[in-house]
This record gives sequence, C-alpha cells and structure tokens, in this order.
Amino acid sequence: MKKYLSASLMCADLMNLKNSVDELKKAGIDYLHLDIMDGSFVPNITLGFDLVNAIKEISNIPLDVHMMVNKPSRFINEMNLGENDILCVHYESDIHIHRTLEQIKNKGIKSGLAINPQTPPECMQYLTDYIDMALVMTVSPGFAGQKLFAGAERKTKDTRSLLDEWGCSCIPVEVDGNISVENGRKLSRCGADIFVLGTSSLFVKNKTFAQAASDFRNALKEG
Ligand code: DX5
Ligand code: ZN
Repeated sequence: MKKYLSASLMCADLMNLKNSVDELKKAGIDYLHLDIMDGSFVPNITLGFDLVNAIKEISNIPLDVHMMVNKPSRFINEMNLGENDILCVHYESDIHIHRTLEQIKNKGIKSGLAINPQTPPECMQYLTDYIDMALVMTVSPGFAGQKLFAGAERKTKDTRSLLDEWGCSCIPVEVDGNISVENGRKLSRCGADIFVLGTSSLFVKNKTFAQAASDFRNALKEG
C-alpha cells in the first residue's frame, strides 16, 4: 500500500496557519490532521469545528479529523467534510460507536476508528464494514511531544495482521504520536500506512516542511 503523510496542525504556528497550509501543500503532504479535544475524553482542548470548516474553505488537501471527544455523534453535522476527508472517532468514546460510524458513512465521509494504547485491536473485528481507516494511537492522546508507548510496534503489527486476516487489506493503518523519522521507519515495517507528523518530525526548527517531508519519505523508502 502507498504511504501517506498527515500533518498535525495542532503543532503548527496558529498565527501563521494559512501560510503553513500553503507550504504543506507544496511539500506534498497528503492529509491535514486536525485534533479536536473536549477536555473530558482527553485532558486538553485544542482545535474546533470552526477551524476545520475554515481550513476546508482555503485548502483542497483532504482533512483527517481526529475526534477526541465523548459521544462524538453530537458533532458530526458541525463539519463540512466531503468524500475525500476522513472523520475519525475513538472506540472508547461511545458505547454505541457502531451507530456513530454508520452516521459518518451515511454522510458520504470516510470513517476512521481510533484506539487508545490499552484498547486491543480485536475490538474492530465486527466493525470493519463501517471503517475506512484504523488509527492506532502510539501515545495516549491529548498532547503533542510525548514518547511512543512501549507496545506501539507490536500493536501496529497485530492490527495490520488482524485486518488482513479479516479480509480487510484495503483498510489502511494510521499511527499518531511521536512519529519521528526513526519511529516512522519502524512502524512502517510493522505495516503502518498513514503517518501523523507533529513535533517529532515535521514541525521542527531548522527544516522547511518540504525538507522534513522528504526526509521522512526517504526513510520509509529505505525501509
Ligand atoms: C494527538 C496528536 C499528537 C501530535 C503528534 O492526537 O495528533 O499526537 O500532534 O505529534 P508529536 O507526538 O510528534 O508531537
Ligand atoms: Zn491526532
């Protein structure tokens, strides 16, 4: 499967966001990753729906919206997402997550199912008809700048194998949290397809987005 880069906008210079988005486009970034937090499902509050919609207005890069909120079904209609965008919700965020995934699909948006470090990937088994992407959190969600959790490689590998075993080879696995060049390379070997790039690789001092993205892609190619 092709490898995709998703830029985590919570790590961008918010006072200079339009320029950053333009520069990310030039750098060939595949998705813009937008973290929506509610201060309850995770202990932080970041980007919101107005920003998602404003970015949609100024950019044609597909959006990769990561909802870290309790009962995300309450907010699905707040965002003007299209068929190329991904709306990702957490397995742990609603006991009826199947219904939420179905709502996303019914709106013609791609759906993602995210799982926290302690949640086993087996939870996806009976939901594969409703998901277009599996998001394996490689840190506990909520903050940028954290360290990869110890089980990240094993879990990425297990998620990929289970999806293949269930006949879902076309469902890509995304990894999010501390995706440095080195961790990206390791997780790519474990079967990760989409890489959320934040402070560990893309939003770094002394490198343009184009240089950082190219360094990351080259590392994946080297394997
Ligand atoms: C949380 C976020 C963070 C962050 C990733 O969902 O997506 O994981 O932006 O960037 P790092 O971990 O590299 O700072
Ligand atoms: Zn995220």
